[in-house]
Amino acid sequence: MDSLKKILKRAEKQGVAIGHFNISDSSGLRAIFETARELNVPILIGVSEGEAKFLGVRQAVALVQSLREEFNYPIFLNADHSHSLDTVKAAVKAGYDSIIFDGSKFPFEKNIKETKAAVEYIKSKNVDILVEGEVGYIGSSSAIFDKLPEGAAVQEKDLTTPQEAVQFVRETKVDLFSPAVGNIHGMFKNAPNPRLNIARIKAIKKAVKIPLVLHGGSGIADEDFTEAIKAGINVVHINTEIRKAWREGLEVRLSEMPDEVAPYKLLDASVDKIRKVVYNRLTLFSKSSQ
Ligand code: G3H
Ligand code: ZN
Repeated sequence: MDSLKKILKRAEKQGVAIGHFNISDSSGLRAIFETARELNVPILIGVSEGEAKFLGVRQAVALVQSLREEFNYPIFLNADHSHSLDTVKAAVKAGYDSIIFDGSKFPFEKNIKETKAAVEYIKSKNVDILVEGEVGYIGSSSAIFDKLPEGAAVQEKDLTTPQEAVQFVRETKVDLFSPAVGNIHGMFKNAPNPRLNIARIKAIKKAVKIPLVLHGGSGIADEDFTEAIKAGINVVHINTEIRKAWREGLEVRLSEMPDEVAPYKLLDASVDKIRKVVYNRLTLFSKSSQ
């Protein structure tokens, strides 16, 4: 089976993006995996620090690995938004396929210093793990809000610049880079998400020449995704839309079956709703822009 590195290179060449979806439990994993298999596209599963705490750091690896082995399928696990070296160390020990060190809330120089330390630690272990770094704060919760998360960079003057991207990638030696280009984590209750700055994505891609990751995919308009992928995005992260689908499915079943207590009978509608989200997003991400 091809490595994640090879799959990303191919995605760059083909002008497509790999979907990255977060999970908290095995029902989400099942829905995402089965949909990826139906569409025959590689898939990335993400667990944040909170999700990993709930699911188990090693247990997440065991679940993803068991699918990869049983079905000989390119499914990979990412330690999403690791905020400390301790989280990074636990992910390396457990055998994750990629790790994001998220220093985006730090001032730029400190972000470089901390990300570099994480990269050096991971590479010193001689493991086949890709490392991603981030520049530009885009909020930190996959939730549904009334207003923009405090401090999120969405105005043009606050977005990641190509100069910052080049310096960051050169000094930290990350394998993947995630910029702030109008994307935010989460969605609004009654409004669309901000539009992406496609010209900025293009300029950053031209400057760094490594795979670019778009975080905060939930709520982004289809045409923005298409243009962003054309401009050089190779991985797209979606979480809030998955969480919302999970909750909506569960609410339907709870109202239909007020006395039911079997989790598998209550969660099947969540699985169906997550499948729909994943199907629509993966179909869009894997349409080649070449
Ligand atoms: O790392 C996770 C993603 O960036 C999720 O963002 O909740 O806005 O889809 P989202
Ligand atoms: Zn993210």
